[in-house]
Amino acid sequence: MDTLLVRAARGERTERPPVWMMRQAGRHIPEYRQIRDEYTFLEAIKTPEVAEEITLLPWEYYRPDGLVMFSDILTVLEPLGFSYHIESGVGPVVENPVEGPADTDRTFEDVREELDYVGELLRRLDETVGDETALIGFAGGPFTLASYAVAGQPSRTHLPLRKLRARHPEAFRTLLSSFADIVREYLQFQVDSGADVLQLFDTYAGALTTADYREFLLPLHQEILDGLDVPTIVFVRRMNGRLALLAESGADAVSLDWTVEMGSAREQLGERPVQGNLDPSYLFGEPDFVRERTREIIEAAGPEGHILNLGHGVDKETPVESVEAFVETAKQWEW
Ligand code: CP3
Repeated sequence: MDTLLVRAARGERTERPPVWMMRQAGRHIPEYRQIRDEYTFLEAIKTPEVAEEITLLPWEYYRPDGLVMFSDILTVLEPLGFSYHIESGVGPVVENPVEGPADTDRTFEDVREELDYVGELLRRLDETVGDETALIGFAGGPFTLASYAVAGQPSRTHLPLRKLRARHPEAFRTLLSSFADIVREYLQFQVDSGADVLQLFDTYAGALTTADYREFLLPLHQEILDGLDVPTIVFVRRMNGRLALLAESGADAVSLDWTVEMGSAREQLGERPVQGNLDPSYLFGEPDFVRERTREIIEAAGPEGHILNLGHGVDKETPVESVEAFVETAKQWEW
């Protein structure tokens, strides 16, 4: 029998919505902070025993229906020749960003070898995680990865990358396809290593105009997602009003940010399964408030093809009791 999460991602009616959270294994959990006192972020994701322990922390707290491997979208940077680290208070920093339009055709050798720590993590988790819980793998999308590779640091407007599009469209295309090539192989590798569901995070791609999105990015999303034989989910923020572009990616399910009303998402997407979309800041409210807002989302989504999640990642200061209220609301639901 497939897990609840897999069934919902395929659009089936489920007796209650499956639930998990983006960034569920991060800094809001006290044990995570203790582990991070001993290991840098990169040490933690590159040491399968440690990454496994962190992946399982939310299981001990909340028993969600999906466990997302503890890793990062930026792992594919290294095989493409970029070095990076996470700087406290700044975020990801790429030490040798793209030097210019001539430096966009990036190749890689063997993803399975270079990212063997991710394969090892998934194989371990596949043994540990029970049959009722889905193991979720993921990768970044080309635009989001390229934003870090070009800006070298978090960029709120993604202007460095958007300037490349304006001045050197062919170099922009080349860079995005370099990322698409590696991500496609990387996701297949995750399936072979035990992932039950995959999420593609092209979080920042909503910064593109709709025409550019359609011309440059959509074909790459289609190429990446085509042929993967586990259910796939696509997440891009700021796509309200043009969610159909996400459906055209071929992903089985579309993950919604919190600015989209669930009813309107259903109208834009027809029968396409959806994931989401509680505002993560609502988890700073009282548990009763969390329960009420969560019920509204479940009601509006209906019994078919809905995975309950937040509209983006869990914030680092989020109180555990509110997350419990969120997860419990799904687990006690009966359609
Ligand atoms: O439950 C989980 O934690 C799942 C694993 C996961 C992480 N990052 C762990 C992480 C996933 C799925 C991601 C995705 C990710 N990483 C995205 C796409 C989704 C999104 O949230 O927008 C992006 C853009 C990144 C790049 C990245 N890596 C950012 C923005 C940060 C946070 C930087 C900061 O200082 O806040 C990271 C580091 C990172 N990835 C942390 C975690 C738990 C924090 C590391 C730490 O300080 O301990």
